[in-house]
Amino acid sequence: MRVLSGTKPTGDQLHLGNYFGALRQFVELQEKYDEALYFIADYHSMTSVRDGETRRRNTMNVALDYLACGLDPSRAILYRQSDLPEVCELTWVLTTITPMGMLQRAHAYKAALDKEEQVDHGLFSYPVLMAADILLFRADVVPVGQDQKQHVEMARDMAQRFNHAYGCEALTLPEPYTPKETATVPGTDGQKMSKSYGNTIFMFASNKQLKKQVMGIVTDSTPVEDPKDPEATVFKLYDLFASDDERADMRARATAGGLGYGDVKKELLAKVLDHFGEMRERRAEFEARPDDVEDILADGAKRARAIADPVLDDVRAAAGLGPPKG
Ligand code: TRP
Repeated sequence: MRVLSGTKPTGDQLHLGNYFGALRQFVELQEKYDEALYFIADYHSMTSVRDGETRRRNTMNVALDYLACGLDPSRAILYRQSDLPEVCELTWVLTTITPMGMLQRAHAYKAALDKEEQVDHGLFSYPVLMAADILLFRADVVPVGQDQKQHVEMARDMAQRFNHAYGCEALTLPEPYTPKETATVPGTDGQKMSKSYGNTIFMFASNKQLKKQVMGIVTDSTPVEDPKDPEATVFKLYDLFASDDERADMRARATAGGLGYGDVKKELLAKVLDHFGEMRERRAEFEARPDDVEDILADGAKRARAIADPVLDDVRAAAGLGPPKG
């Protein structure tokens, strides 16, 4: 069984929501599956980022985040999407069996239309490129956030249509994996943590910035001596890092009264630094050795290609592309 997922390098810093919603799963799944592929979707970023230097920097940042969080090149194949331009060939093939109506129903496309944004062809066919990413490697399982689930279902649909059209089994039908237990991580204002709400906690920010973000968590004006609502945002965030015992203890202290929010925030900050301490160090180490990161990506591309080549061969053979075989 093979797991695959990708991250679009848009320049956003990694925040707690991304970590608990995606990266932590990536790390767990690299242990659980025979083969794991994680890539940096730099082709995809072209629908929004229009500067080459910026894209390179953003791409490196995702690579650093991957390595920092514990994606291990000896277990998982880490690669840059554009190192495998084969994905563009499969994209073309898939466009020819994808109905316009399917793409017109894509949430991201509809949202762009609603906002009356200029929609280019790249944004419209984004789901086809994403399907090619997945199908090129016959991935079985694709861990994604809720917002990307529809795209994986489309990939499944495209695989079926291709196999049906050419009477073959060249492509594998993938399953989206969206773990239920990842409750949405609340942001500092209590809404879902999201860059667009400006309520994020960036775990790879400087100590000073990180402290500022944690201390800025919105709390109510309950006096110190009074009991606190254990469902308050600061406790929900604390829970993400606490053991069952610590969670129960914190709850008891909250409802007993006499616990100040400032103290809870300090305990939370200590937990965040403890949880991400090693990852923060690892990120800084790799950041100082960009050539090593490039070597890891080059090796990843080589291993990825070894999986993709036979799949593309089967696709070409089924579709009658290139010279006849045998
Ligand atoms: N579209 C995904 C996102 O914006 C990134 C992505 C591109 C992806 N290709 C993929 C995720 C293939 C999973 C599988 O988050």
